[in-house]
Amino acid sequence: MAYPYADPRETRLLSKHFGEKDAIGIDGWIERGGYRALKKALGSMSPDEVTGVVKESGLRGRGGAGFPAGLKWSFMPKDDRPRYLVCNADESEPGTFKDREIMRWTPHQLLEGCIIAGYAIQAEHCYVYIRGEFVDIVRILNGAVGEAYERGYLGRDILGSGFDLELTVHLGAGAYIAGEETGLLNSLEGRRAEPRIKPPFPAQRGAFNMPTTVNNVETLASVAHIVMNGADWYRQWGTEKSPGTKLFSCCGHLQRPGNYEVSLDFNLRDLVYELCGGPPEGRALLAVIPGGSSVPIMKADEIDCDVSYEGIEAAGSMLGSGGLIAMDESTCMVRAVRKMVEFYAHESCGQCTNCREGTAWLAKILQRIERGAGREEDIPLLLDISANMAGRTICPLSDSAAVPVVSSIQKFEHEYLAHIRDGTCTAVR
Ligand SMILES: Cc1cc2nc3c(=O)[nH]c(=O)nc-3n(C[C@H](O)[C@H](O)[C@H](O)COP(=O)(O)O)c2cc1C
Ligand code: SF4
Repeated sequence: MAYPYADPRETRLLSKHFGEKDAIGIDGWIERGGYRALKKALGSMSPDEVTGVVKESGLRGRGGAGFPAGLKWSFMPKDDRPRYLVCNADESEPGTFKDREIMRWTPHQLLEGCIIAGYAIQAEHCYVYIRGEFVDIVRILNGAVGEAYERGYLGRDILGSGFDLELTVHLGAGAYIAGEETGLLNSLEGRRAEPRIKPPFPAQRGAFNMPTTVNNVETLASVAHIVMNGADWYRQWGTEKSPGTKLFSCCGHLQRPGNYEVSLDFNLRDLVYELCGGPPEGRALLAVIPGGSSVPIMKADEIDCDVSYEGIEAAGSMLGSGGLIAMDESTCMVRAVRKMVEFYAHESCGQCTNCREGTAWLAKILQRIERGAGREEDIPLLLDISANMAGRTICPLSDSAAVPVVSSIQKFEHEYLAHIRDGTCTAVR
């Protein structure tokens, strides 16, 4: 089966074998070059050399924050405490659906990355914390883990190298906040997924109070390619500050929604209009959210930039998770933002007053504006509440909830005013 909407302008490094059923099993994966990088790492590289090449490649974490992966690994203490690697497969950022496809089509691509990363940080156990709703993918992943144990790629004395690594697939229980790395660690330990105050960071005290590295699925899936082919090879794509390729999950008002993998210097406008086909016939694009609902909304005329971390930032938003949501002119921006804020209000863990109360108040105010009962003072009120939610809480969920409110008022205030003053909506029906 061909993967829907593959496009020759993509750079399909991680997604090359999406849609190929026989790439899922270990034999098919080995035929496609799988586990060669693991043999190279364990056979001829020290853990520090593996970390070094990942550092040089400039690979940045694909979970949202873009933190350099090799640098994160180098923060792990080298004493003799047990160390853990946690793969964040919770994937619950609205608009994001790439990690599940990596695991669905190429589970061994992820496992090989986990084993190599585990070797680099000298972990004794790797936990893949996967969103519990991904029932079919959990089955695929567990099958792949079983195969990797059978072939000696997991367990004791992997490939005769003396390195031991156990791997467990752990199912989450359906909370967005369990994707935040310290909420995830609490959940993994059997507690509520409440984020922890940092510092200490997971590299000092993570899972079970031991040094832990948490990386996203896409980050770890990139590792075997880098180890096999080198840092310079990886840097042929993207920019100096954002090397490599990135999967974009594109949804919303698009003619060809789906996952597209592009070099990180690809143009965002071309991604929307050429790869995804732009908005449906006869509709104009209104706005784009490029990195999941937690990043600022961009107006349609702001997206002529490259998709690198710095390119999108210069254009006023953030790359985030690469969950691209397109909205055409039929969108009521007040309604869209109200729905996002209701999501955050529902998912707030409630530990911080500013987040718990702030998200609830934002939702209430947006609800009344949408139904035509808003007041002009509600706009400064929304901005005031948002200002009190950002940078004051244990984790950034609170900031994330304020982001769409502030950016939509900055860019689409006329839509709020139409609801408030005239009781009308500017969306084109
Ligand atoms: C509210 C919230 C939800 C998050 N959800 C996810 C998620 O579903 N998957 C993910 O990989 N990272 C998520 N993150 C980011 C993680 O905290 C963490 O930065 C990431 O897993 C680190 O991996 P990376 O360095 O490879 O990007 C979330 C962060 C926040 C604040
Ligand atoms: S910011 Fe919100 S989600 Fe994060 S810890 Fe505080 S209350 Fe919980």
